[in-house]
This record gives sequence, structure tokens and C-alpha cells, in this order.
Amino acid sequence: MTTLKLTGQRPNEKQRQFFLSRARHTAYGGARGGGKSWAMRRKFLLLAIWYPGLSLLLLRRTYPELEENHIKPLKRELPGVAKYTDKRKEFVFLNGSRIKCGYCDKEDDVLQYQGQEYDVIGLEEATHFCESQMQFICTCNRTTRRDFFPRMYYTCNPGGVGHAWVKRLFIDREYQNSERGEDYSFIPASVYDNSVLMRANPQYVHMLENLPAGLRRAHLEGDWDALLGQYFETWRRARHVCEPFSIPKRWKRFCAMDWGYNDPCCVLWFAVAPDGRVYVYDEYYRRKILAHDVAKAVGEISGGDKIAYTVASPDMWQRRGAALKSIGGVSGECIADVFIKRGVPLRPADNARVVGWQRVREYLREAPDGLAYLQVFARCANLIKYLPLMQYDRHDHEDAACGDDHAPEALRYGLMSRPAPSREKACAMGASLPGGGPQPPANPFLAGEKEKTGYLIM
Ligand SMILES: Nc1ncnc2c1ncn2[C@@H]1O[C@H](COP(=O)(O)OP(=O)(O)OP(=O)(O)O)[C@@H](O)[C@H]1O
Ligand SMILES: [Mg+2]
Repeated sequence: MTTLKLTGQRPNEKQRQFFLSRARHTAYGGARGGGKSWAMRRKFLLLAIWYPGLSLLLLRRTYPELEENHIKPLKRELPGVAKYTDKRKEFVFLNGSRIKCGYCDKEDDVLQYQGQEYDVIGLEEATHFCESQMQFICTCNRTTRRDFFPRMYYTCNPGGVGHAWVKRLFIDREYQNSERGEDYSFIPASVYDNSVLMRANPQYVHMLENLPAGLRRAHLEGDWDALLGQYFETWRRARHVCEPFSIPKRWKRFCAMDWGYNDPCCVLWFAVAPDGRVYVYDEYYRRKILAHDVAKAVGEISGGDKIAYTVASPDMWQRRGAALKSIGGVSGECIADVFIKRGVPLRPADNARVVGWQRVREYLREAPDGLAYLQVFARCANLIKYLPLMQYDRHDHEDAACGDDHAPEALRYGLMSRPAPSREKACAMGASLPGGGPQPPANPFLAGEKEKTGYLIM
């Protein structure tokens, strides 16, 4: 008989709470090094052993993280207890339980789990997953067993593309639609809970204590108000959002679209004031709507207004063959053709990402008359929600991370069709501009901080 040796390793008090939680959704998080990943692995193992035939899915955002954080340690802990198959990335236990390890690098990688059913799902570093990924993954968490309710477990640190939804559900406890507060349980983590690490590696704690203030708040104190790596730091609701007003007929209007079917499709309506200030005055934001229905909605929202042009995702010009049929087109057409046929002429947007984000930054600046060059009508809820949540890419010094960025992408396409707010325009707004555009702030995930924080960030 094979014996599983878990001796010498006892859970600390927070880990014990994590083990005992039977909530529908349990998050264990906050500060670094508290023993969250250890607890997730151990919890999975105990569940797999306790409930024969249980199906568990353990997810991280990327494969290298998954392998280092879980596959390697589980392989060390489980020889003879569970058999690992590399092809399926799955540990199968003698009692028929299985732990599948997976990752969702790209946003729609979650679709690979469509139709699959897991009694338990764990999201490691949940803030690395965007909200739409989390929502989709939750649809796979179901069971037909009578002895077990489906459960989701999350570990998390502040910061990342999923910061906002984790904070909303587990910290701010703001619920919407069918979400119920009693289904969500949060266990705060602190490195000081992890006596094993404190004894073995006291320098680690000193390093956390010596971090620059923002990082220390997030990583040592687990403070969810310290939003690490925000891409558009200058965005302020008070500065950039205005109440809708009736736009004069003579102002130029145009549209920008980030096309999506499984992902949301976002269309923004822009108006340019005579002084060059740009107003985003309406938005359309829906998923799983056929191309011709989007075209119809765009026409309706535009009403009788003259729209000078609509810039749109360049990938709408790729021929999609038979696959296009499923989203309302004819084989051989491209999605752009569907719109053009329905009276919404499109032109491909300039998709230079870093230059485009820099253009957005320029428009977020305050003009000499004290108002920012970009104003967004308060009804554009998704642009207002997602722009401030944009995060730096962890592997690129200048780019933003991909995530729930469909409204920001449409904004970028729209502003790239306009000149940068120029010196002349600024003068029309009442004063002279200092030379040069705004410098993007350093990516805190990579620039400078990396030396100070070492392996903390990656
Ligand atoms: N109860 C325990 N018994 C023995 N070792 C533990 C225990 N809890 C955690 N550890 C060890 O402490 C170290 C840090 O734990 P872990 O990696 O789980 O922390 P974490 O909270 O996930 O950190 P991070 O925030 O960096 O992801 C690891 O080496 C882990 O194996
Ligand atoms: Mg961890």
C-alpha cells in the first residue's frame, strides 16, 4: 500500500480557515508569501483523497507559472499516490479523483473548457485573470454528485488585470445580478502567518518591509487600494467624465469599433469641438451579437447624425470563410463587408499599440483652460470602468496588458484617427503648451522596481 507522507507540515491558522471553508467562492489573499499556493495545492490534494471520483481543475494564467507553482511540487508530493500524464496535464488518483492543471494565456483560452464539468476549480493568482475569464470558468464549476456542492477557490495578491473584480467581490463585497454575498468568503493572508518561511528565510520579510511605499502596501500589507501597475495613472473620473449635453450639429462626429463576438464588441461615438477637444458621447458594448445586428444597432444609435467615418479593428478585413456564417456573414466575405453592406462604411484603424496608448495619454492631459482634452459622457459606462483598470504588460516595458480592454481599444482606434492635441488647438483653449508630449510613467513591473523587488514581481 502507498502512504502519502504529509508529515512535518501543518497548516497555519489562515490556511486552516481556508481548508475549512465550504463557501461557494473562497479567496485567500492579500500579502505575499503567506502560504497561499501551498494551501491551494494541499486543499486540492485533500479533496481529491477525501471524495473518490472528484474532478478538480487548477488554473494559472500561463503554463510556466503553472508548471513551477504546482505541477513540479505536486509531482514531488504524489509519487505512487497519483499518476501524472504530461499530455493531459492531469494527476489521476487511485480512488478515481483527478486534478487537471490548466492555463489560460490568451483571453479566449478559457473556451477550451466549454462543456467540461469540474466539482472544484482553483484560480491561482486570480487577479491575473480578467473578469470575463473568471465568469466563463465559473460556468464549468458544476456537479451532479449528491455528496458535494461545487466550489471555487482563489488565491490572489493586489494588482493585475483582475484586481477590480476580486476587490469588488471579496473586499468591497458589492454584488450584482444573481451574485449573493453569502457565497463569498475572504481569508486575508500575511507573510507573518507563515512561520515556516519566517524561520527559514527572515530576509524575505525584510525585503518586503523595505519595498517602496506603493509596493509595500500591496505586497506586505495586502492593501487592495494600492493599485499596482495602473497604465493610465492620470485618469480621474472627476477630470474626464462629464454629464451628457446636446452636441451642436456642426461638430464633426466619427465612430471607432473594437470588433468581438465571443469577446465584447465595443463601438464608441466621438464628437470634436471647434477647439479640438474630443468628447466620447455614446457607446455600444455587447457580446455574442451577430455582425449585421451590430451594424443595425450602430445605425440606430447614430440616428440621423452625420458620422464622418468609422475606424475599426483591422482584423475585420480578414476573410473568415465558413466561420463567418455563424456570425451573420456569407462565406468569402469579411466581417467589414457585412457592415459596409448594411450602410456602416468602415476603414481599418491604425493599430500601433504603444503609439496609440501614448495618444490616449496625450488626450487625458489637462488643456490650458483646465479641462482635459478628452471628455467622456457619463453614460459610457464600460469605457469609464475599464480604462482605469488597464495594467502594464508584465513582459513589455511600454505596452498595456491584454484583458477587459475592448472599450479602451476602441478609444485608442478613435484617437489614432485624430491628430494629437496640437499646440494650435491648445492656444485656442487659452494658453501655450510646454513642448513635447507627456512621458509615459515607468512600467513598475519592469523598470527600476525590478532590481528592488527581485523575484517578487515575476
Ligand atoms: N504550512 C506550511 N508548511 C510548510 N511549508 C509551508 C507551509 N505554508 C507555506 N509553506 C512554504 O512557504 C513558502 C511560501 O509559501 P507559498 O508559495 O504558498 O506562499 P504564497 O502566499 O503563495 O506566496 P506568493 O504571494 O509569492 O504567491 C513555500 O516554500 C511553501 O512551501
Ligand atoms: Mg503563490
